[in-house]
Amino acid sequence: MLERFGELLRAAGYTSSELAARLDMVLGEPFAPVSAPVHSRRLGEDALATLARVLLLGYSTPRDRAAEVLAPLGIDELIAAGVLRLDGADVWGAVRITPYEDLLLVSDPDAQPWAEDHVLAPGPTARALDHFTPRTPVGRALDIGTGSGVQALRIARHADHVVATDTNARALDLTRMSAQLSGLANVECRHGSLFEPVAGEEFDLVVCNPPFVISPRSDYSYRDGGFPGDGLTEAVVSAMPAHIRDGGTGVVLGNWFVAPDAATPDRPLGWLERAGCDVVVVHYDSEDILEYAARWNEELAADGTAYGAAIDDWVAYLAGFGAEAIATGAVTMRRRAGASNTRSFQMAVRPGPTAGAQVARIVATLTDAPVDAIAGASVLKVPDGVLLDQRLGAQNGEFVVGTAQFTLPQAAGIAVEAQPAALHVLLALDGERSLADLAAEVAVETDLDAAEIESLAVRAAADLYAAGMVVRAERA
Ligand SMILES: C[S@@+](CC[C@H](N)C(=O)[O-])C[C@H]1O[C@@H](n2cnc3c(N)ncnc32)[C@H](O)[C@@H]1O
Repeated sequence: MLERFGELLRAAGYTSSELAARLDMVLGEPFAPVSAPVHSRRLGEDALATLARVLLLGYSTPRDRAAEVLAPLGIDELIAAGVLRLDGADVWGAVRITPYEDLLLVSDPDAQPWAEDHVLAPGPTARALDHFTPRTPVGRALDIGTGSGVQALRIARHADHVVATDTNARALDLTRMSAQLSGLANVECRHGSLFEPVAGEEFDLVVCNPPFVISPRSDYSYRDGGFPGDGLTEAVVSAMPAHIRDGGTGVVLGNWFVAPDAATPDRPLGWLERAGCDVVVVHYDSEDILEYAARWNEELAADGTAYGAAIDDWVAYLAGFGAEAIATGAVTMRRRAGASNTRSFQMAVRPGPTAGAQVARIVATLTDAPVDAIAGASVLKVPDGVLLDQRLGAQNGEFVVGTAQFTLPQAAGIAVEAQPAALHVLLALDGERSLADLAAEVAVETDLDAAEIESLAVRAAADLYAAGMVVRAERA
């Protein structure tokens, strides 16, 4: 029944690309309605508009109109399937259905107040974990804390079988509905906490977007993990390696306390010290605890007194751990006997859909050679899409060429800086000539010192290599 309903929705244009176009949003972006009244006015009056108003935006429609756009499916069938509800002569969505990439994801409608077991539609953190998940074909996969099923279903497109777990039974019901609507039969739902439902099992790919918020509250299962401090992120990160097959990958999105001294390694690296994994951590700018407390209590902002009290409560709780700032980031681990290589990056720009592929390249560089193995003899190539930004800045009455910054848009958000003199060589990387050969050619053309250019180019190329933004020619 839900499979047929999914087909009806897609045939009516209920897809992320069609609705994005109609609502004047960027095509290909996951759909995130922010303003129902504006969206409603953009939708028009056809069948798709009625479906989107009821199932996405949370409005009702008269029963006759619903019957018209849902035929040949019956309203009663859809009520029995948990999709619709009746209130007098009006039909409402009993759930919200969000088109996300090529999926239809079921979550709870946004009507307030939210129940403790409220299941969220995919939002920014879901998107971030989606971006950091490598999209190579795998056998068995695991998604811990599946919610609407977003990660499990995205992975189900490139895995033979996916196990999705949650402590919230409603989340598992909605994930089953999401899978049926999306026409996927390889997602298995299991109830239980963290790794309990998969004790003793290993997977090729494991992902988790836990309720990682460091919170003194326990109001919502999607937000408040119930562990003290950053203990939930630690529990997930440290237990995950035991469930990853040799050569497999795990990705966790989480929050952790930032050490006051910038030289101290990111906490997740310590949690994985003897885990037999190569690890890459990529994190956003840290937030101070006041900003963090304010952001996670924004739902109270209309009531200044309640909002202020919640902020004070949270700040006192966080300060109790000695915390000044909190990091949000993605931890990627690859299981390998005896592995213990690590690397940490701070994002300079927002991540995008190919972050997982870039991190996989970085993980590969952790094992094949230390970064200082990039030398004059290295032959390197730049992958498609790498961007170079360079600015001119006024200094003592003239414009001076500034440091160059390399980024890979729509990937892991990492930026690498290089001195202007190194660019002569970096811009000429062609997968054929070595760094030393290029430095010698540049020296002849520019009158600069060949050894100095080579040394600057090797240093910059090593940083780019470590960040997955140049590759060895034989791999290109
Ligand atoms: C932030 S939501 C993530 C939902 C979805 N995976 C996504 O990426 O949007 C966290 C999910 O973890 C579930 N959860 C909370 N505590 C859990 C636990 N101890 N074990 C497993 N799942 C848990 C919540 O019910 C919720 O569905």
